[in-house]
Amino acid sequence: MTALEKEPTTPAQGEPLVVLSDVQKWYGDLHVLKDINLTVHRGEVVVVIGPSGSGKSTLCRTINRLETIGEGSIQLDGKPLPEEGKALANLRAEVGMVFQSFNLFAHKTILENVTLGPIKVRGVKKADADAKAQELLDRVGVGHQAAKYPAQLSGGQQQRVAIARALAMEPKVMLFDEPTSALDPEMISEVLDVMVTLAKGGMTMVVVTHEMGFARTAADRVVFMADGQIVEENTPEEFFTNPQSPRAQDFLGKILKH
Ligand SMILES: Nc1ncnc2c1ncn2[C@@H]1O[C@H](COP(=O)(O)OP(=O)(O)OP(=O)(O)O)[C@@H](O)[C@H]1O
Ligand SMILES: [Mg+2]
Repeated sequence: MTALEKEPTTPAQGEPLVVLSDVQKWYGDLHVLKDINLTVHRGEVVVVIGPSGSGKSTLCRTINRLETIGEGSIQLDGKPLPEEGKALANLRAEVGMVFQSFNLFAHKTILENVTLGPIKVRGVKKADADAKAQELLDRVGVGHQAAKYPAQLSGGQQQRVAIARALAMEPKVMLFDEPTSALDPEMISEVLDVMVTLAKGGMTMVVVTHEMGFARTAADRVVFMADGQIVEENTPEEFFTNPQSPRAQDFLGKILKH
């Protein structure tokens, strides 16, 4: 078992964990999520792809309630997403999110960035939080940088810290919104490697990415969005070799040319 793999203790592997039912969202007049029905099962890795503006980020942001929805429902582990207060803070811990920009606290050390959430939200004792954070930083390959500040790390290293920070909250699901698109090419694979290991270890993941290699290696399912709708979903093998809709064919034709 490699470092990032969890022990296979989850008996409910395969059960619905995140369930979006008939979700609609508008920004003013703009209908950005149209009748979204999506179930992510425990241990499943879902890659979301689609053209710019198709609603991929919005979809992710509704799952940890950074955005509210207009109609429909979203359930996490059998319960509707909480509206506010402590329950909402707990939700943000249960749904780990990694963005394109790493959003680390510049004036805190790498270790403090990872321990802050567990101490403040989870009420973990500092010594325990420190030990866990160090272990997670070791796992993502930046353990020796724990005392440094974010600006002293490369982009790829900072993104791995952001992943460790989310994992420190022991999330039920991890959302990644284009986690490698701000990185120089040589740093992309070190982040993707961490994500592949997480996926293989049984983490439930929703990943918005243009990295088709990652989708092919790690995804159980590819969801293709266009104009706020889920147009097509399939196994990576089927999706990439035999896309059904003209929109997906067109999109793949464009990105696979590069
Ligand atoms: N806060 C906002 N207010 C108004 N419109 C928004 C807001 N955020 C996003 N939108 C619009 O909603 C639509 C979906 O945006 P979203 O960011 O979810 O797309 P995306 O698929 O993530 O695109 P990209 O690939 O460029 O990241 C776009 O038309 C966008 O302009
Ligand atoms: Mg986006």
